[in-house]
Amino acid sequence: MSCLRGDKLLNRVLPSINQLLKFLPVQPLVIASNSLYICPVCREPLQLQPSAKNYACLHHHSFDVAKEGYLNLLPVQDKHSKEPGDSKLMMMARRLFLEAGFYEPMAKAVAMMIDVGNTKGQGIQLLDLGCGEGYYSRKIAGFCKHSEQIALQGIDIAKFAIAAAAKKQPQAQFVVASSNRLPYADQVFDVVLRVFAPSDNDELKRVLKPSGYLLTVTPGPRHLWQLKEFIYAEAKEHVSENEVPQGFEHLTTQRISYKITPNPEQRMALLQMTPFAWRANESVLQALGSVSELEIETDFILTLSLRTRPFC
Ligand SMILES: C[S@@+](CC[C@H](N)C(=O)[O-])C[C@H]1O[C@@H](n2cnc3c(N)ncnc32)[C@H](O)[C@@H]1O
Ligand SMILES: [Zn+2]
Repeated sequence: MSCLRGDKLLNRVLPSINQLLKFLPVQPLVIASNSLYICPVCREPLQLQPSAKNYACLHHHSFDVAKEGYLNLLPVQDKHSKEPGDSKLMMMARRLFLEAGFYEPMAKAVAMMIDVGNTKGQGIQLLDLGCGEGYYSRKIAGFCKHSEQIALQGIDIAKFAIAAAAKKQPQAQFVVASSNRLPYADQVFDVVLRVFAPSDNDELKRVLKPSGYLLTVTPGPRHLWQLKEFIYAEAKEHVSENEVPQGFEHLTTQRISYKITPNPEQRMALLQMTPFAWRANESVLQALGSVSELEIETDFILTLSLRTRPFC
């Protein structure tokens, strides 16, 4: 595993990834957008209706396209709470923090990894799994070299987040759905991107084409260390899990770490985005807000793997 400081150094490792990937097949886009979705109730294909206002299956289950352009394919039985996923507050905090550019070096690295699998003349279908308010989908469109050839789909279980993503990026398609039961036909995606989001391995394997790529971003050991020190009496380094699921072959891992200095408002937004926010009591919040300057380490692990065994 290589350890990089800042996005400038990314170029050093990319030639080797390029070499590795140029021998791998990337299949051209062949799926008509009409048959991409399946009905979340009966699993039959969903077709866009002539009015273009809704999708329906042969059993007449119908799903309206929202005014923001997204689709809600989360059936009530898969909704385990009134508002599943991140709350509106968390979504707004995430947008405030991310739009300030603190994670942009990581987003650039993600885009560069996607680029090496998307050489000129080929279109790809990309799924941003657990896309939140759509920051990485927008960055892919902005940073990838041949982004006009990328058909972008984003899913998240949080309706507020999907509505916000769809409003900002009408060129992409966003869907409210659970990653445990994806509303897509089999083998439709060339790339699945998963940034700090949950997934189901069987569903990942089902929707990826044979030889499709899985790109995950997970926290490295030192991620947000100084923030953790405010919250825990004894902060512990994050223990990385194996990010190569069964049925995938590991291609490459990149570690990107650098320091950020968010202002007090941005620090609070960052805390709201993290799983340890609920542990922060009033005195922690006050202490965190009153420090004049706080340098925080970021530490990201990017793992690229290849779908190898489509039938297991
Ligand atoms: C830590 S956030 C990451 C969001 C985005 N990838 C980013 O990094 O900005 C995790 C996201 O996963 C979503 N999520 C949680 N459970 C989910 C599920 N079962 N299916 C789809 N999305 C889910 C949450 O709503 C949230 O937006
Ligand atoms: Zn149906």
